[in-house]
Amino acid sequence: MDLEGVKSQFLKDGYAVIPNFLDDTDVSALRHECSNIINDMDPAQHHTVFSTTDQTNDDYFMTSGDKIRFFFEKGALDDKGVLQVDKQLSVNKIGHALHILNPVFRRKIVSNCTDEAFCLQDVLRAVGMVEPTLCQSMYIFKQPGIGGEVVPHQDSTFLHTTPLKLMGFWIALEDTTVDNGCLWFIPGSHKDGVAGNRRMIINPERGPGKPGTVFTGEVVTLDDKKFVPVEVKKGSLVLIHGEVVHKSEQNLSPRSRHVYTFHVYDQHNTEYSTQNWLQATDAKTFSPVYTTTQ
Ligand code: FE2
Repeated sequence: MDLEGVKSQFLKDGYAVIPNFLDDTDVSALRHECSNIINDMDPAQHHTVFSTTDQTNDDYFMTSGDKIRFFFEKGALDDKGVLQVDKQLSVNKIGHALHILNPVFRRKIVSNCTDEAFCLQDVLRAVGMVEPTLCQSMYIFKQPGIGGEVVPHQDSTFLHTTPLKLMGFWIALEDTTVDNGCLWFIPGSHKDGVAGNRRMIINPERGPGKPGTVFTGEVVTLDDKKFVPVEVKKGSLVLIHGEVVHKSEQNLSPRSRHVYTFHVYDQHNTEYSTQNWLQATDAKTFSPVYTTTQ
């Protein structure tokens, strides 16, 4: 598929797949680097369990936008931060600034360009991004047998801009299938904005013992039959429109499902909400990919 085909699928369905965005060497480099990061991690310093079904978001999460932090699977640590499972199998995700703070992740994505593969810049131009800004990144593990579900959502619920100009990039670092928790989409669901104006915002009453974020808007019930699975091969890039409804199921298989994902919004004539949990800091993790003149 050429980039025109990618663009037309993205506009029609709200998602598109670009196979072989990363080659095997780059995929291995990212996985190896991540394994090193976990080996160097002291679990006692990191204690937060991540769940999309209980998003109260403590200070550890709220201040992770410009750091490399670890969010564990339920039951991976005891109360004192002592590991109860293999270290490499304990983490749910790492967030949210690998794209700036880790040189391997920074180089492989933003600078990646070979004759065979599309660059990130090419893809962003093809979908009409004028001033794309990479604002967060996550390495997601979906551990074998225990990797939790990600409930149906639209990414613009979490990173709101006016007008809505958010896009997710999701790179499979292993083959993803229905069995190990591939993405599911409702095709075309990106055309009606964010259902129920659902937003996750900084809790106006934030304080000790209180959640860092709260949700506003209405919960809209979705028709589960409309979801279609999108299985992709290792190295594939999946483009995710900020308003397309998507989810992934639990990984009950014996295989992991490692993914590197990041979000970009178009700064051009766009207001980034000060109510979003993620804000630019002095660490300059809001990183322009290019400007219009390049
Ligand atoms: Fe998402």
